[in-house]
Amino acid sequence: MNPSKNKTSYLISNDGYPGIIKCRIHYLKCCQSILGRYLLVKFFIVITSAFPFIIFIQWNNNCYLPTNMCDTLMTKVDRATCCLQHSNQPEDICGRFNCTVPCTEPETFNPHPQNDPTLLTRHANQEDNKGNAFFIETTGNGALNYRQACAVESLALHNPNLKVHVLFMDATINQSLVTLQTLVENYANIQFVSLDVGEYIAGTLIDHWYHCTDWRRGSYHVNNLSNALRLLTVYKYGGYYFDLDIISVRPVTYYRNFVAAVDREIVNNNAIHADQKHPFIEMAIKDFITNFSPDLWGNNGPDLMFRVLQKWCNDVNTEAINYVTCPGFNVLPASSFHPVTHFEVEKLFVQRMANETDKEKSISWLTKKVVGVHVWNRMSKDAPIYKNATHAYNRMARDHCPHIFSIAPEIF
Ligand SMILES: *[C@@H]1O[C@H](CO)[C@@H](O)[C@H](O)[C@H]1NC(C)=O
Ligand SMILES: *[C@@H]1O[C@H](CO)[C@@H](O)[C@H](O)[C@H]1NC(C)=O
Ligand SMILES: *[C@@H]1O[C@H](CO)[C@@H](O)[C@H](O)[C@H]1NC(C)=O
Ligand SMILES: *[C@@H]1O[C@H](CO)[C@@H](O)[C@H](O)[C@H]1NC(C)=O
Ligand SMILES: *[C@@H]1O[C@H](CO)[C@@H](O)[C@H](O)[C@H]1NC(C)=O
Repeated sequence: MNPSKNKTSYLISNDGYPGIIKCRIHYLKCCQSILGRYLLVKFFIVITSAFPFIIFIQWNNNCYLPTNMCDTLMTKVDRATCCLQHSNQPEDICGRFNCTVPCTEPETFNPHPQNDPTLLTRHANQEDNKGNAFFIETTGNGALNYRQACAVESLALHNPNLKVHVLFMDATINQSLVTLQTLVENYANIQFVSLDVGEYIAGTLIDHWYHCTDWRRGSYHVNNLSNALRLLTVYKYGGYYFDLDIISVRPVTYYRNFVAAVDREIVNNNAIHADQKHPFIEMAIKDFITNFSPDLWGNNGPDLMFRVLQKWCNDVNTEAINYVTCPGFNVLPASSFHPVTHFEVEKLFVQRMANETDKEKSISWLTKKVVGVHVWNRMSKDAPIYKNATHAYNRMARDHCPHIFSIAPEIF
C-alpha cells in the first residue's frame, strides 16, 4: 500500500486537530445512535428531503447527518477521543471516560513495500534495517524548497543502497512541484509519503504526550513535534534520520548507531542512526516524555541527547562529548556533520576570487572526515545562494545535488 496515493490529507487547524476529524467523529456517533432509533432516522430523512438546503441536522447535541465530506472519512476516528479497547470502562488515551467511538487499527506505513521488486533486490543481501533513511517535514507543507530538495538528493546520491523516505506529516504532497518531480525522476531510491500524525503515533509511547499535554502552546511547537517524531521513526523502523538542512558529501552507511557532536559540549539530534527498537532510542523517547519542557530552547532536542548519553554511557565526560563511544551507541565527532558551527555560518557564503588557484579554491574545512554539512537553515535561510557564485554553499550544491542545482533559479 502506498499511503501517499490513497490517503485523504488535510491541514492542521489552529487547535492542532484537523477540522474534518470532528465531522467524522460526530458522524460515527450519529451512526451509533441511528442504529437504535430507526424510526427517527426515517423521520429525519423525510425532513432533509423536504428542506434540501439543510445540510445537517443536530440531534441530541451529537447527531449530524453526514455531509458528503463525512462520507469519505467514515472509517477514521480521532485518536484523542476514541475508546481504547483494553479497559472495562472505555476510556480514551488521556484517561477520559466520555469517549464514544472504539479506536480502530491505525494505518500502517511500511517502509519496505513488498511490491517493490527493485527494493527487494537491492536489499536482498542487507540486514533489514540497514536500508532506511528518513527526512521528516512537520510544518504542514507538502513541499520541499530547493535547499531541502538538495539535502534529500545529496543523501540519495551518495547512498544508493539506502531507501530515502521523505515523510510529510499532515500535509498533502504537492506532486506538481518541480523539486519533488526532479527527485523522483532521477532517483529510484527516493519515496515521498504523506502521513497523518495521529495515525502514525497511535499506540506508541508519545501518543499520550501528543494528545494530552499542552505541547502545542509555544511558537516552536513544530520543532518539538519534529524532535519526537524523529526518535519515534528510527525506533519504529530502524535507520537514519537527517534534518532537511544537511548536505551529504560522502556515504554515511559506514556509520551506525550514532548521534553527532557539534563541538566538545553539544551533541545534536539532527543526524541519527539507530537499529530498529534500539534501547538507546527508547530511553530517549522516555526522557522526551518525562522531561518535556515546552519553554526551554533545546531541552527536547540536543540537551535531551546529552542527558540520555550520560545515562547510557554512565557519566560520560561532559567536557569532551566529541568522539565518545559507548557500548552500542556512539557520538560522531563534530567534523562528521558540523564542520561549520552555528557561529560560523558565514563561512558557507564567503566568495572566492575567480583568479584563485585550484588548491586555494578547495574548501579548507571540507575535509575527508566530513560526512554531511549541517548548513543551519535557521541562520542561513535568508542569505541568498547565487547560482553563478563560488561560495561554499553553492559549490556543495553543485557537486552534491547536481539535478536540483540544474533546475534551481539564479538565486535560491
Ligand atoms: C470529555 O470530558 C472532558 C473532561 O473529562 C471534557 O473536557 C471534554 O469536553 C469532554 N468531551 C466531550 C466530547 O464531551
Ligand atoms: C503546488 O505547486 C504548484 C507549483 O509551484 C503551485 O502552483 C500550486 O499552487 C501548489 N498547490 C498547492 C495546493 O499548494
Ligand atoms: C519547544 O517549544 C517551545 C515553546 O514553543 C520552544 O521554546 C522550544 O524551543 C521548543 N523546543 C525545542 C525546539 O527543542
Ligand atoms: C586575484 O585578484 C585580486 C583582485 O582582482 C587580487 O587582489 C589578488 O591578488 C589576485 N590573486 C591572485 C592569486 O592572483
Ligand atoms: C550572478 O548573478 C547575480 C544575480 O543574478 C548577478 O547580479 C551577478 O551580476 C552575477 N554575477 C556574475 C559574475 O555573473
